[in-house]
Amino acid sequence: MGNIEKIVLTGDRPTGRLHLGHYVGSIKNRIKLQNEVSKAFYMVADVQALTDNADNPQKIRNNVVEVVLDNLACGVDPKKTTFFIQSQVPEIAELTVFFMNLVTFQQLSHNPTIKTELKEKGFVESTPFGFLAYPVSQAADILFCKANTVPVGIDQMPVLEQANEIIKKFNATYGVDLFSKITGVVSNISRLVGIDGNSKMSKSLGNCIYLSDSDKEIEEKVMQAYTDPHHIHVEDKGKVEGNVVFTYLDVFDEDKKSVAELKAQYQKGGLGDVVLKKRLTKILVDLITPIRTKREEIAKDPELVMNILKKGTEIARKEAKKTMIEVRKALKIDYFD
Ligand code: TRP
Repeated sequence: MGNIEKIVLTGDRPTGRLHLGHYVGSIKNRIKLQNEVSKAFYMVADVQALTDNADNPQKIRNNVVEVVLDNLACGVDPKKTTFFIQSQVPEIAELTVFFMNLVTFQQLSHNPTIKTELKEKGFVESTPFGFLAYPVSQAADILFCKANTVPVGIDQMPVLEQANEIIKKFNATYGVDLFSKITGVVSNISRLVGIDGNSKMSKSLGNCIYLSDSDKEIEEKVMQAYTDPHHIHVEDKGKVEGNVVFTYLDVFDEDKKSVAELKAQYQKGGLGDVVLKKRLTKILVDLITPIRTKREEIAKDPELVMNILKKGTEIARKEAKKTMIEVRKALKIDYFD
């Protein structure tokens, strides 16, 4: 990116508590990046959450604090990262309207992320227009503060590509150089499988381990995790591929040498699932316990979270106002500026 200043922006839809998939997919990168750049933003994407929850605003409202708590507990630091609420920066909605003219209906309907989510949500036959357009508003989420570095889960990459198309079109159409290319930052663990072996850990599939789960919940979930259905007796040969317990050990167990030995033993026969599941339970409990404890600590003071959001939203709005002056100029609607 040459000598362009790196500005980080990321966000979550407040539709539920966050899980291990979020942690490895993007939260870890948020924490790393906030230490490397001078400007980082974390956005609670309540407007985006409403695009497929228009009939349930209370759910979105309740989860605003939950997603912020999850991020704070993991170590996203409000001293380094500006936390704000999407709906409270109306310039984002304004920018979305102008970006809409630079995107075609066909581009949006063919977007791989949108196509997958429409299927998952049962929206194929009847698609909320706001939902179809969320990649446009996501471009505005990122660009209102001229962010260019975006930690996201890998399934969001086509949405970022769409944002880059908008940037190109905007700069070319209006003969400006206002926005610079966005780079998505994805983790090397592209996507965490669910405990049931489904390709994705997802709230709607009910196969998640949450960052706020108790030790008991973690243990119960790990004990139910999908392994090799043909590995019935300890002495049976077992399969490692597609075995969720090994997939998780690969991700979370630091002791790679032991994991390799356990795999060999499992494949040969003579290693039971329970031994492995106990090992994995301990690793996950050790990872999640400090996060949950910190979460509970912060949650004792609900005003603290709202104050972080309020202060951050003021900072975000200042950035937004600055950018909108330039946008209005480019669009020749700077009548009163
Ligand atoms: N679409 C993202 C998700 O579902 C959330 C999000 C909204 C986001 N706006 C963003 C992520 C801007 C990065 C940048 O996970």
